[in-house]
This record gives sequence, structure tokens and C-alpha cells, in this order.
Amino acid sequence: MARPRSRYVCQTCGATALRWEGRCHVCGAWDSLVETLVREPARPGSARSRSTSAGGGPAIPLLELAATMVERLPTGIGELDRVLGGGLVPGSLVLLGGEPGIGKSTLALEAAGGVARSTSGTAGALYVSGEESPAQVRLRAERLGLLDPRDAAGERVRVLADTDVERIIERASEPRPALLVLDSIQTVALAALEGPAGSLGQVRESAARLLAFAKETGVPVLMVGHVTKEGSLAGPKTLEHLVDAVLNLEGERFAGVRLLRATKNRFGSTEELGVFAMSSDGLRGVADPARAFLDGATAGAAGRAVAALLEGSRPLLVEVQALVAPAGPFGAPRRTVSGLDPNRLALLIAVLGRRAGVRLADRDVYASLAGGLTAAEPAVDLPLALALASSARDVAVRAGTVAVGEVGLLGELRPAPALARRLREAARLGFERAIVPLEGSQTMAAEGRGGGRGRSPASEGGSVAGLVVEPVGTLAEALEAGLGAPGERSNVGTPVLGSTLP
Ligand code: TYD
Ligand code: MG
Repeated sequence: MARPRSRYVCQTCGATALRWEGRCHVCGAWDSLVETLVREPARPGSARSRSTSAGGGPAIPLLELAATMVERLPTGIGELDRVLGGGLVPGSLVLLGGEPGIGKSTLALEAAGGVARSTSGTAGALYVSGEESPAQVRLRAERLGLLDPRDAAGERVRVLADTDVERIIERASEPRPALLVLDSIQTVALAALEGPAGSLGQVRESAARLLAFAKETGVPVLMVGHVTKEGSLAGPKTLEHLVDAVLNLEGERFAGVRLLRATKNRFGSTEELGVFAMSSDGLRGVADPARAFLDGATAGAAGRAVAALLEGSRPLLVEVQALVAPAGPFGAPRRTVSGLDPNRLALLIAVLGRRAGVRLADRDVYASLAGGLTAAEPAVDLPLALALASSARDVAVRAGTVAVGEVGLLGELRPAPALARRLREAARLGFERAIVPLEGSQTMAAEGRGGGRGRSPASEGGSVAGLVVEPVGTLAEALEAGLGAPGERSNVGTPVLGSTLP
């Protein structure tokens, strides 16, 4: 067979060049050339045309399609299966991304172990490492307990240290595993391309080969991909549209909690969040994730509020922290956020100043969300505003209080969806009071009581299984409910009840 040749193709105009050039000689775009394999035009019916286009049979009515779509291969890792939408779909190509050291290899090996255990009668899982030596993989497997003689995974996960994509696919074709893990896409290469492993051309073509393998054989492929400093997966455009699902493992590297999210999922929701804790023996699903982002030790401190957020279908109680400090003598005051939207912070600072008498314009402001979590929900506004005002006034938010709601430019509060679900979770975790927007709290009251009583006057408040709900119409009212009237400092120095949350 003739060796396939490669060309450098401009990603802007499509012009081709024989060698890499820094600038496209046709359109003048800089750094736009990507090494690409040249394929002869496929003849209809040839093997190649089949491998690049799925199917080829007659069109089938929707109703008949559905039945073939439901099959899933659970990885046995509850949190991973949750994010995948119930498990791996046969023939799917899944990209697991994350920063170096976050735990991708650990999760991938655990998934290989889980699949190997549950698929007796197959060739188990094939774990291909282009990054670590078999000895290193063994070390990790030992930590994860996969070498335990009672664990079938030790025998049923095969490890291959290789970086040649063709060879890897050959090994995965016979015997055919139930799952192929490739760690990582940036370390493998196709011999037909000149570029080094990790170059855009190699990453793209290698992923395309793995996709073809997955679709042809029905073997799900989990490939690990490093996130670059800029926060994108190498060759993000190419890979993200190519693969069936993109999972991202995030978290603060030195804190224990790891979050798994799908940024794309052809077979499930992208809303679900997986919560893990990195332990000495691997990533463990967190049994009570709603509690994972609360820190009992800080309860009672000024500058802290608890938000009742919703991640996918899962309510999470999350600590929001703020620090307001005198600004230095020069330049603009600092605004630093972590896990929160800086634009929302700027807006809240302005609204707090104009509508609630909390002037922060000339102060330094720092705000963050606990546990490396990122909140995109506007419902985090109210707890953030409370934390800001709490720090500015040096008054702690009343103990056992959660807050949720969006803050508008006029200082009005807007409802958050699924309020009852959030509040039930807060009640379960022992919170006693919830500050919520007046608007929407009526329907919540109905929702919370099973809808039986219909609308109750929201101004009377309501309760969700032991939680006192305080509906407020404006930000100023919310601050009063959470912090007391301005100038009132009675709860400063309230002893912190150490061991129990909240
Ligand atoms: P790793 O899976 O190698 O990260 P990645 O593949 O994303 O680069 O794991 C990263 C860190 O996790 C590493 O610093 C060691 C730590 N770790 C544990 O704390 N417990 C464990 O059981 C394992 C396997 C790793
Ligand atoms: Mg790794």
C-alpha cells in the first residue's frame, strides 16, 4: 500500500503547502497551517468511503431507531456515569480533559477497572499509556486497589505502552476490548505525518482514526487530553466537534474536590456535575456532594454567605466568600474573583452602592466560591451581595441562613428556578432560614407543599420541611433579613458553633 502523504493545509483559506510555513502563502494568515493526511478520493462502496460515513443503509423511521439507542456500558463509577448520561455508549469517542495533575489518568484507569469488572466474557479493558511506563501504571493501579487478588480488574485490564496510533488500533482490534482508554491523545502520533506528537495535525488525525475505530467496532474509546495553559484542549475546534462527548475534570489542584462536567454530550445532558474527592487511594465519588462546598469552620465569620445553587438536577449548598478592604492610594481599586463572573461582581458593587447603601466603589473587593466550583447561575447574586455587605459592615450573616436569587439593576430580586428543590436540600443539611426573592416564592410555597394549598401570601413567609423561608422584594430588604439593620452589630462575635454545619 502506498504510504499516505501529508500536506500542510491552511485552516483559514484551505490552501495547501508541501512544507510548514509560518504564514499562508495564499491568504497571508499567520500560523494557520496544519499538517493533514492526503486521502485519495474514495470510490463509492470502497472500505474507505464506508469508514468515513456511517451506515449506508436505507432511511429508517424514528420510531424504529429509538430501540437501538439505549444501550449503555456503565463504568461502575457513579459520578462518571452520571455525567456521561448513564454510562458509555458503544462506539462513542469521549474526550476527558483537564489540567496536568488533576486526576485524569486516575479516573481513566478507574473507569478501565470498572468496565473490565462488569464485562466478563469480553477481553476486558485496554489501557494505552503513551505517557507513563507500565511500571508507573502498575504503581497507580496498586494505589487504586486494582491489584487486589479478589479484584478481577487486575487481570482484565490490559496495559499497553505505545504511541503509534496504527499499532494501538491493531492491538485493540484483536482481541477486541470492551473499552479502549488512551492516555493521552497528545502523546500519540501517526507515522505518516511528520509533525511531532501533540501538534495540531497529529492530534486531529489521531483522533479521527480513533473515531473511525470506535464507529467500526462499537468499542467505546475514552481519550485523555491535556488542557493547555490558555484553558483549551489542544486543537479544541477539531477535537470538540469530532468527539461525541467532552468531559472536563476541574478543581483546585491542591484542594481535594474534583468536579467533572460535560461541555458536550451527544448522549446526555451537559448540565450534570460529578463530584469527586481525591484520596490516597484514588478518586472517590463524594457521597453527599451538596455538602462538599461548605466549610463548617468558617460559619459565623463576616464575609461569608451560603448559596443554594443548582448544578444540573443536583442542588448544591456552596459557600460564597468576600473580602472588602481599603484600596491602596493609587490607581483603580482591585476586583478579584474566583469561580464567579467578574461582570456580575461589578454590577453587584454598583447596585449595592446605589440601592442598598453599601459603598464599595473605592474599596478593594475579593470574592470567591468555595472548592474551586464555578457558578454561572445568576442565582448566586444574592448570596454574593450578602457576603459583600457582610464583609463591608463586618457583620456575619445570621447563622443557618441560605440565600438564592438574582439581583436586578434596580435592586429588585428575581426568582431562581426550582426553588423548592434547593430549599429542601438546604433543610436536609440543617439550615434554618432561607432568604429568597418574593417573586416566585408563592409558586415555591405551592411546590413545597405539594401544590395542595395553592398560593399562600408570600409575605407571611412559608416553610419547607423545617426551613423558615423569608421572601424579600429588594436587595436592601434581603440585607436586613440577613445582616440586620445597618449599624446594628449585635451578631458580631457570635460564637461559632464549631463542629456542626452550617
Ligand atoms: P493523575 O491522575 O496522574 O493526574 P493527570 O493524569 O490529570 O495528570 O493524578 C494527579 C495527582 O493525584 C497526583 O499528583 C497524585 C494524586 N493522586 C492521589 O492523591 N491519590 C491517588 O490515588 C492517585 C492515583 C493520585
Ligand atoms: Mg496523566
